[in-house]
Amino acid sequence: MTARRRFIAGNWKMNLDRAGALGLISSLRSKLPHDPGFDVAVFPPFPYVEIVVNACAGTPIRVGAQNCYFEAKGAFTGEVSVSMIADLGATSVILGHSERRHVFNETDTAIAKKMTAALGARLAPILCVGETLAERQAGRTSEIVLRQLVEGLAGVAAAQFGSVTIAYEPVWAIGTGVNATPDQAGEVHSLLRNELAARHGRAVADAMRILYGGSVTPENAAALLRVPGVDGALVGGASLDAGKFQAILSAANPAAHA
Ligand code: PGA
Repeated sequence: MTARRRFIAGNWKMNLDRAGALGLISSLRSKLPHDPGFDVAVFPPFPYVEIVVNACAGTPIRVGAQNCYFEAKGAFTGEVSVSMIADLGATSVILGHSERRHVFNETDTAIAKKMTAALGARLAPILCVGETLAERQAGRTSEIVLRQLVEGLAGVAAAQFGSVTIAYEPVWAIGTGVNATPDQAGEVHSLLRNELAARHGRAVADAMRILYGGSVTPENAAALLRVPGVDGALVGGASLDAGKFQAILSAANPAAHA
C-alpha cells in the first residue's frame, strides 16, 4: 500500500463574515508549521474565497470552493464557473456534498459534469458520498455510496484520478453530533476503496485519499483517523472554531504538534 498523506479539510458552509473568516485564518496560520506533514484546506463561501486565498499566502493552507457549475460561462444566473474559482487562486472544490444533493436536488449526473469541469480547470475535487439514515436502516448503504462513487467519477480520465479525493459523509452524521463509529467508517471506506480497485486498479485505489466527514470533533478525530483507510477528515461545524480545528489538525499528525 502506498503511503497516503493525510488531508484535513474545513467546510465552512454558509457561515462567517469577512472579519470572521480573516480572524479564523490568522489564528490557524499562527499555529501551523510551514510543513505540518499533512494537507490542510479550507472551503469558504464564494464571496470570501479571494480574501481567504490572500490570507493563506505563504502558509500550507489551501483554499477551495464549496460548489461550482459545470458550464463554462453564459446565462446561468447565480452560478459560478470553475475558471472563475481558479482565477481567484482557489485550487480545490467540494462536489456532491449531501446538502447540495438533498437541499438543492443535485443529481449524480450533474455532479459528474462538475467533476469533469473542475478537473479541466485543474481544481482538485473532493467528491462526497453518503447514505441517509433511512437508506442505512434499509440496508442500502453499499448500494447508495457505490452508485454515488461510480456515477460521480464517470467522466474522470485515468490520468486525473491522482487529483481526486473522496469523502465518505453519512448524511445522518452531518451536523447531528452523531458521528459514524470507527468501525462503521472503516467498513464503508474499505467498500469504496475495493470498488475503486476493481474498476481502476489497485494502484489507483491505494493512491486515492478517502476522508471521513460527519460530526468530526477534537474528541473523536484521533480514533477516526486511526482507522486503516481513513485518510483524513472533512470537518464542518468544528472547522469554524480555530481551537477545535487546530485540535483536529493536531490529531492528524501528533508528532508535528507535540
Ligand atoms: P459537520 O459537517 O462536521 O458539521 O457534521 C461535515 C460536512 O458537512 O462536511
